[in-house]
Amino acid sequence: MAEPTIEDYYLEERSFPPPPEFAETALVRDRSLYDQAEKDYQAFWADQAAALTWTKPWDTVLEWDLPFAKWFVGGQLNVSYNCLDRHVEAGRGDRVAYHWEGEPGDSRTLTYADLLDQVQRFANVLKGLGVTKGDTVAIYMPMVPELPVAMLACARIGAAHSVVFGGFSSDALRGRINDASCKVLVTADGGWRRGAPVGLKGNADEAIAGAPTIEHVVVVRRIESEPPMTEGRDHWWHELMQGADPDCPAEPMDSEQLLYLLYTSGTTAKPKGIMHTTGGYLTQVAFTHKYVFDLHAETDIYWCAADIGWVTGHSYIVYGPLANGATSVMYEGTPDFPDKDRWWSIIERYGVTILYCAPTAIRTFMKWGTQYPEAHDLGSLRVLGSVGEPINPEAWIWYHENIGGGHCPVVDTWWQTETGAIMISPLPGVTATKPGSATFPLPGISAEVVDDAGTKVTKGGGYLTLTRPWPSMLRGIYGDPERYKETYWSRFPDRYFAGDGAKVDDEGYLWLLGRVDDVMNVSGHRVSTTEVESALVDHATVAEAAVVGAKDETTGQAIIAFVTLRTGNEPSDAHGQVLRAHVATRIGPIARPKTIIFTDDLPKTRSGKIMRRLLRDVAEGRDLGDTTTLADAGVVDEIKRRAATAPTEE
Ligand code: PRX
Repeated sequence: MAEPTIEDYYLEERSFPPPPEFAETALVRDRSLYDQAEKDYQAFWADQAAALTWTKPWDTVLEWDLPFAKWFVGGQLNVSYNCLDRHVEAGRGDRVAYHWEGEPGDSRTLTYADLLDQVQRFANVLKGLGVTKGDTVAIYMPMVPELPVAMLACARIGAAHSVVFGGFSSDALRGRINDASCKVLVTADGGWRRGAPVGLKGNADEAIAGAPTIEHVVVVRRIESEPPMTEGRDHWWHELMQGADPDCPAEPMDSEQLLYLLYTSGTTAKPKGIMHTTGGYLTQVAFTHKYVFDLHAETDIYWCAADIGWVTGHSYIVYGPLANGATSVMYEGTPDFPDKDRWWSIIERYGVTILYCAPTAIRTFMKWGTQYPEAHDLGSLRVLGSVGEPINPEAWIWYHENIGGGHCPVVDTWWQTETGAIMISPLPGVTATKPGSATFPLPGISAEVVDDAGTKVTKGGGYLTLTRPWPSMLRGIYGDPERYKETYWSRFPDRYFAGDGAKVDDEGYLWLLGRVDDVMNVSGHRVSTTEVESALVDHATVAEAAVVGAKDETTGQAIIAFVTLRTGNEPSDAHGQVLRAHVATRIGPIARPKTIIFTDDLPKTRSGKIMRRLLRDVAEGRDLGDTTTLADAGVVDEIKRRAATAPTEE
């Protein structure tokens, strides 16, 4: 029996037009941006690029040699100049760039002038350590102000950064450092997490033990610890900064100069180093940050509650907000320390007007209850954003009512590490939203849903594709142009395949339906099934493993692992814990399976392919569909029996 590629169960009827009092002062109130972009999308993007400061104008807006794009060719600019100097030169040096709050309650205020000073000094520190244009610097840090400083310092001198999320393991860090032959690592002694200091330097040391290209390590002191420092290789941030020259002019960079690498999970075990460059990237992150959030930079207090280690933080904590001269809040820790109202207390104290976060956080807050937000005055909020995974209508409505007081537009923003910036989203003063729909492509963007044959779907489900290049698109996968073509541009001719299912409703609204490949989405983070399988099989007791994502109320998807042990090893809860811990060491705590189901066999087709769809059905407790292609039908009954009794970790 043929099954539909994308199943579509849900029909949402509610619609929320922009509140009139919001629309009155919104930056965009009509469709003119859309009309202008439709007429000539390249001219439209050129207009947006002109909002940046270029030291040399571009000759050609776009060179498109499918699938390789170059934007604003011949133009030169410096990202850190655009994010810092130009605001200071325009007399806005005293404006706050970041209200930073540490988890223990300490805080720091950094103005644009402060940030520029720090960035110039650190750029000189990097130069002093031998970093030059074209080098790559690895950054592995908690959410402290030194993290954006390090990124901007790299941009200032033309070194690419490769930020590795602080929650990743030493193995994951080592793999990423080696893939890009990073020369310097910037890290910290640790960070604060749920009320306790958590060391980071030990992980960094383990990673570097197998990373021969690292010549120097710079360590920020955050938890007042005394980690071992290797003489000649390791340096304290504060010591280097003390002696650093405060003057480091921004060097003009070609528009296509590599700005950063950011690794993301794909369908194989090896993460992909996504490449982002300078002019096009900054153009689109600045444009989207301004218009999607209706940013009034003089008055808004903006808070993106992501971690800078993910693309959301790169584009919407660092580059977009700073390019626009915004005032941001940056928070180091967890939402439940010292209590479950930490976020609402932050919003009240700083007067946050724009909040951007992930559905998984919203669902957690729903679970905790409305008493926490109710205890605070959230009246300053005027725009709410969502990112990272489909937001279920129930969570959308809860967010709208309990956080936004029923009067804040909710912008559900679809994009990816690869797209660099928001692609599909409402404009809050123009678009009538529907809970759970990311609505329409932004001006300048063209997205279409297609069926298996690549034919456009005007109503119903299919695959999300992008039909023309966009300025902040990935320029490739580091060191692997073939994989770039294969992953994104081979499934449908002349289209970028995002890997997401989507449907179009009667009114043309887009509804994202989750990944269609072997990538799970856990708390808004992409985790590859293959990567987790490889980590499990890497354990000496494991013969075979199959990993699937199952729907989960809080995290969107939860990781469920089916594991066959080598003979001589007995399944037990304790052994399940050992394997979970093993995955956490190999990849990071985010990839730790929620449930491990031990089984003597995995269901396979006669050609030996593991039947994942069937395992997903088991994991989600559904009735099993057609099992006639199974080599051994008895296996399934056994697995169902085991699944029903498998312990699950909260
Ligand atoms: O499946 C989509 C989901 O997150 C994937 C991209 O993950 P990542 O590269 O880690 O970037 C996350 C932050 C941009 C997408 O392929 N996704 C992201 N935003 C949404 C979403 N799914 C539905 N609705 C969204 N708003």
